[in-house]
Amino acid sequence: MALRAEAMPVVDRLGLEALPPWESMPWVEAYGSSDERVRIVVNGVDPLHGVDSIGTTAGALTAAVAIERFEPTWVVSAGTAGGFASRGGRVGQVIVASGPIIHHDRRVDLEGYDSFARGEYPTANLAAEAELLGFNTGPCSSGDSLDAPPQDIAAMQAHGTVAKDMEAAAVAGVAARAGCQFTALKVITDIVDGPEPTVEEFLSNLAHAGQVLGTALPQLLDVLSTSLT
Ligand code: ADE
Repeated sequence: MALRAEAMPVVDRLGLEALPPWESMPWVEAYGSSDERVRIVVNGVDPLHGVDSIGTTAGALTAAVAIERFEPTWVVSAGTAGGFASRGGRVGQVIVASGPIIHHDRRVDLEGYDSFARGEYPTANLAAEAELLGFNTGPCSSGDSLDAPPQDIAAMQAHGTVAKDMEAAAVAGVAARAGCQFTALKVITDIVDGPEPTVEEFLSNLAHAGQVLGTALPQLLDVLSTSLT
């Protein structure tokens, strides 16, 4: 997870304790319980800029160290995302990723490198589990900007993106290379193709989305740990 505002409601709900930090990356925060079934790993506060580490570089780094240390079966990228009114999106909606996940802001027009850049990483088919929990499913995509310039919008339109975030594709790439099952769980804080400015809409809905995550992520983890391991 990227933002502490997203992660702490989940840590509290699951009653997890802080685990010892990594020596090489002491800003990364890990939380767990004695049964070791679930760990929440948060990108942490960037030591250079003093804000929560967001984006694909932090997401990939955290995923790599967390997978090496915890050797999980499943990796879940959880947090907030922008949604699309034109594809049924609304604030507070819970989305479970379906189909391949891409980087919508990477363009390399060279044979082979185009799909390498876009990622196109697999996500687990959790359609039945999502329906059971009352969550929506749909394509997710990631980029390193909160805004959405026309080329990114075109890539997301072509992909059918219903959740636009800043980490999931990077985490999915690390999970795929490590042989872990992957899904993303995203709560919509703002509508990319809506009338409200993204920053204001995101900030006014972040706390509520954190609370929704605090319920939705434990529910999904429960399903993964009881029926899919
Ligand atoms: N997280 C929440 N809203 C987002 C948006 N519009 N773009 C990227 N990441 C987000």
